[in-house]
Amino acid sequence: MKAALPLAALGLVLSGALLFLYRQAPGNDAPAYFENVARLRQIRQLDAQWELDAMKSKLGINQSYDALAEPLPQLDALPHQLNARPGAPDRDGGAELAAGVAALERELGRKAALIESFKSHNAVLRNSMAFLPVAADDIAALAERYSQPGRGGTLRFMRTEAGVRKVLLQVLMFEDGARFDQAGFERALAGMMASQDTLPADLAGALRLFVVHVRTVLRECQKVQDLLDRIAAAPTAAHMDRISTLLNRGQERNALQMQQHRRYLLLLSAALAALLLYAAWRLIRSHAIINSVNGQLRQANEGLEAAVHERTAELEGAYGQLQSEMAERKQLEGRLVQSEKLASIGQLAAGVAHEINNPLGFLASNADMLEQYLERIFEMLSIYQDAEPAMAPVPGLAARMRAQRVRLELDYLRADIPVMMAESRDGMGRVSKIVQSLKDFSRTDSLQQWEWADLHRCIDSTLNIIASEVRKVADVRKEYGALPEIECMPSQLNQVFMNLLVNASHAVGPLRGLITIRTGVADQQAWIEVGDNGCGISDEVLPRIFDPFFTTKPIGKGTGLGLSLSYGIVQNHHGRIDVETAPGAGSRFRITLPLRQRTEVYAQPARRSASPASAQAPMTGMTPAL
Ligand SMILES: Nc1ncnc2c1ncn2[C@@H]1O[C@H](COP(=O)(O)OP(=O)(O)OP(=O)(O)O)[C@@H](O)[C@H]1O
Ligand SMILES: [Mg+2]
Repeated sequence: MKAALPLAALGLVLSGALLFLYRQAPGNDAPAYFENVARLRQIRQLDAQWELDAMKSKLGINQSYDALAEPLPQLDALPHQLNARPGAPDRDGGAELAAGVAALERELGRKAALIESFKSHNAVLRNSMAFLPVAADDIAALAERYSQPGRGGTLRFMRTEAGVRKVLLQVLMFEDGARFDQAGFERALAGMMASQDTLPADLAGALRLFVVHVRTVLRECQKVQDLLDRIAAAPTAAHMDRISTLLNRGQERNALQMQQHRRYLLLLSAALAALLLYAAWRLIRSHAIINSVNGQLRQANEGLEAAVHERTAELEGAYGQLQSEMAERKQLEGRLVQSEKLASIGQLAAGVAHEINNPLGFLASNADMLEQYLERIFEMLSIYQDAEPAMAPVPGLAARMRAQRVRLELDYLRADIPVMMAESRDGMGRVSKIVQSLKDFSRTDSLQQWEWADLHRCIDSTLNIIASEVRKVADVRKEYGALPEIECMPSQLNQVFMNLLVNASHAVGPLRGLITIRTGVADQQAWIEVGDNGCGISDEVLPRIFDPFFTTKPIGKGTGLGLSLSYGIVQNHHGRIDVETAPGAGSRFRITLPLRQRTEVYAQPARRSASPASAQAPMTGMTPAL
């Protein structure tokens, strides 16, 4: 930038100088010069022609004076048109040229006046010259008439005629420019005039007229000759030569100036070109520097972009890791809450089961006993009834017995009490089942052993037990994969399979549904899926399905312990349950179990326990977190 300022200043100065020189440079007036030269040549021709015409007029070759008048307008106008260079009349000899032109005009004016005078004198001369032969002929005719035989003086007349002829001849010769003896001629004229007294009057008159014209011719001839000499001597050519010289000099000076300016312009142009070359060289160098800097910048930018991408990828990875850690943490928290919830519920359930179990036991045995007692009482009453006719002798007894029987509705009781007892037994059975479920849930009496089992066989045996319930409402499709025996507690897992299958059969309908059982191994873990195309689980229900006693089924149909129990069993196996569901489309429960149990995990609870909330991506994206 610093170097560019002097460069720009130098460029400005050079451009200014160039402009100045351009303005100072003489214009190209070669056309004006050639016009002036042509005009001058025309004036010269006109002038020469003018003199020639004057001579012709004098010699009588030109009959009229038109030729002398014709060039006048042009000779008047042309000198005015001889210009100095426009814009610089005082410089370059413009004033001198104007003075020369003015002198030429003056001279042409004088010459015109001389020609005018020549015209009038020449006219008089021509007139007298034309008259003299006529006058001579007249005299000759008269002399001849007076020279008739018989009349005296014939010689005299003949001498007069001869004198006239001689004078005429001499005048003609004189007029023609021949040598002329003035004195002799005067003598001849004087003798002629002297002899007129002896001549007849008319002849004498004719002679006098002749002499007058002869003298006019002599006089005018000299004047005309004098005027012609003056016309010829008029210095118009000298003026024109001077003008021509001035024009040539101006043109030369102009050419010289132009040459000089061209030289300056050339020098300035060369300087400007050098400056431009230098600027171009600097520009190219700057361009190269900019290019290299751009390249470096681009490289740096690419490096930066790569670094940013790398950093972004790292950050995204870290973010993803953080997200997954947060999700895992959330799951763990959910599992922990669920575990704690289940643990406390388990304790509660164990207590309740224990408390209910004993009264339920004696209630059941008492009910059995009561039924037996009642049977016996009814048998006794039957006997009493049969004995009624035998009591007729006792007044009123039979009637009282009959009335009492009617009042007690004994027949009705006999029919109803067994039903009631059966219902009670059924109720107690249900309570007993609940108590057993509670016990299972709390696993207080779980003394089962770990063993290696084929889960396909477990599933099949479970299916056999509930076949009638499931096959009434749905088809079962088995898609078993290659599943090795796994270390587990089969009877507990049977409970899980049973609950999932029963739930699936409850979910389908009213049309016949489809239950699909799939198995397989992934990541060294066995997985079992029970899927249905039933009603699915709504968003509100999904978070609660693993809660104990949560059920959407009518009272008496579900306890709401099935899934929580299953969850506990799977957790005990260090596995997990995942749910995928879509309301209206069905549900899929997936159990994942380790192939074998590690010894140390028997002692302490596993970190990766089953998660009721670890529902994977739903069929239609509906998986709330528990
Ligand atoms: N396959 C399924 N389709 C739709 N809903 C289901 C399915 N499995 C479970 N549920 C829902 O989860 C609830 C809880 O199920 P869970 O097995 O714990 O109890 P239950 O089946 O209602 O009763 P129980 O199993 O004690 O007879 C069910 O009431 C039902 O609303
Ligand atoms: Mg159930």
